[in-house]
Amino acid sequence: MKNVIGVIMAGGRGTRLDPLTRIINKHLLPIYQKPMIYYSLSNLILAGIKEIIIVTNPNDVLNFKTLLDPIFSKSDHKLTVIKQEKPNGIAEVFRLIEESRNRRDVLLHLGDNLFFGHDFTTRIISTISKKNSAVFSYRVKDPNAFGVIKMHKNRVIEIVEKPKAFISDLIVTGLYFYKDHDIKLSDRIEFSERGELEITDVNNLIVKNSHLNVVELQRGDIWYDCGTFDDLANATQFIKFAEERHSLQIGDLEEILKKMYLRS
Ligand code: DAU
Repeated sequence: MKNVIGVIMAGGRGTRLDPLTRIINKHLLPIYQKPMIYYSLSNLILAGIKEIIIVTNPNDVLNFKTLLDPIFSKSDHKLTVIKQEKPNGIAEVFRLIEESRNRRDVLLHLGDNLFFGHDFTTRIISTISKKNSAVFSYRVKDPNAFGVIKMHKNRVIEIVEKPKAFISDLIVTGLYFYKDHDIKLSDRIEFSERGELEITDVNNLIVKNSHLNVVELQRGDIWYDCGTFDDLANATQFIKFAEERHSLQIGDLEEILKKMYLRS
C-alpha cells in the first residue's frame, strides 16, 4: 500500500483513566499481556501499510520509541513518533503530518480503539482500495458517548458528536480512511466549543462536499473504545478469553512483523 500512510493517535489527556494516566500514557497501558498500542499497530500492518506515524504527547515520545524502535528496526516497516504539543483534537493530525504525508491517503486509527473480527483485515484492505473516504461504524447500546451517524437511504446526512438526544444506534468508531483529495477540507475547520479540532467536523465537510462511505462492522465483530476502566477490563477479558479459547495470539506485533518480513 504505497499510496496509503497509517497514523495512530496516541496523545490526549486520558482523564477517565486517572490516576494511572498521570504517570503513563493511556496507549501504553496493558490490554491483557500487551500494551494497548500493539493492537492498532497490528491492524495497520496486517492491512499492508508499510509506513506508520504515531502522534503522541511531547513527554511520551521517548517511551514509545524505547518500546517500538527495537521491534521496527528488525522489519522493513517504517515507524515515526511525532509530538502533538497539546491535545488540540484528533483533527489536528492532518496539520501535524502534512509534510511527511506527501499527498498520500491516510488510514487513521485512534490508539485507544480495539477491533477484532473474522475478516476485519480484508475489509480494511478493501476500504483503502476504494475511491472514497470512509468511516468504520458499529451499532451500540450507548450511542450518545460517540459520533452518531444520521443516515437516509444508505447515505450519510450528518454525523453528530456526542448528541444529547437519541439519533440512532450507529456510531463512528476510531478507524477512518481519508483520501488525499478530501484531506485539504480539514484546513477549513475551527476549534469546537470544547476547544478541539473535531474529526467529526472534518467528516461532515466530506459528507457535504465529497462522499463518505460507511463501513459497518458485522455481527461477531468486536469493538472497544478503551477510554475507561470498565472498557479496559472488558477488552482485557475479551482478549484473554479469545487467546485461551483459540490458542492464537491477538495483536502480537513482533510475530506479525516477522511474518510480513519473511513474506516480502
Ligand atoms: O472512539 C470513537 C470516538 O472517538 C468517536 O465516536 C468520536 O466521534 C471521536 O470524537 C472520538 O471520541 P472520544 O471522546 O472517544 O475521543 P478521545 O478524546 O477519547 O480521543 C480518542 C483518541 O485520540 C485517544 O486515543 C486519544 C487520542 N487523542 C485525542 C485528542 C483529543 C490525541 O491523540 N490527541 C488529541 O488531541
